[in-house]
Amino acid sequence: MGIQITPSILNADFAHLGEEVARIPGADWVHVDVMDNHFVPNLTFGPTMVEALSRATSVPLDAHLMIEDPDREAMAYVEAGCRSVTFHVEAAKAPVRLARQLRSAGVRASMALKPATPIEPYEDLLPELDTVLVMTVEPGFGGQPFLDLCLPKIRRTRALIERHGGQIWLQVDGGISPQTIERCAEAGADVFVAGSAVYSAENPDAMVTHLRALAEAACSG
Ligand code: DX5
Ligand code: ZN
Repeated sequence: MGIQITPSILNADFAHLGEEVARIPGADWVHVDVMDNHFVPNLTFGPTMVEALSRATSVPLDAHLMIEDPDREAMAYVEAGCRSVTFHVEAAKAPVRLARQLRSAGVRASMALKPATPIEPYEDLLPELDTVLVMTVEPGFGGQPFLDLCLPKIRRTRALIERHGGQIWLQVDGGISPQTIERCAEAGADVFVAGSAVYSAENPDAMVTHLRALAEAACSG
């Protein structure tokens, strides 16, 4: 699949989300940060808002569920039109059942890990997954500095993915910018969420193109 850039709308203007997603036509996905004020200390949107957003853009949506009960709520985001749903393994009570439900509904099943959560205990789940998200900040807020301590885990996750056939996408999220994307690409990430870097740029779509070029060059170099 190659390198993909998925802007997060967490730092976009919430009063004009339709216009904000229209500013990134070159994005591969739109990353929608769903927060419930319990799993993380911040509150964003629910399925009704996500459904409205999915009607406003032809770019596919990935819902990043930072919520306490993804087992119960994930399918609402499938119904809302998301093509990928990312649940936190720290919150999921039955991650295998949840991943299978998502896949049988025809969407990508994506499992997220907070910075202190290791990948190794979840190796046996990899055949159930389409994407692994390695968080590179503590989830909850946009604009936080990238945590370099996550780089070894990105490398180890890439090695496990290769051992399982190499089809799973390896996503990183948090503090991704022109200053940090190359490190992540070299460590083996191939899908890059970027919030403040994209939406604080004068031309967000040009930033998407720039980030993609940096990651592609880091991989081929
Ligand atoms: C953090 C969110 C991220 C965040 C990314 O909890 O999951 O998606 O919005 O924003 P930046 O790129 O600004 O770290
Ligand atoms: Zn996110």
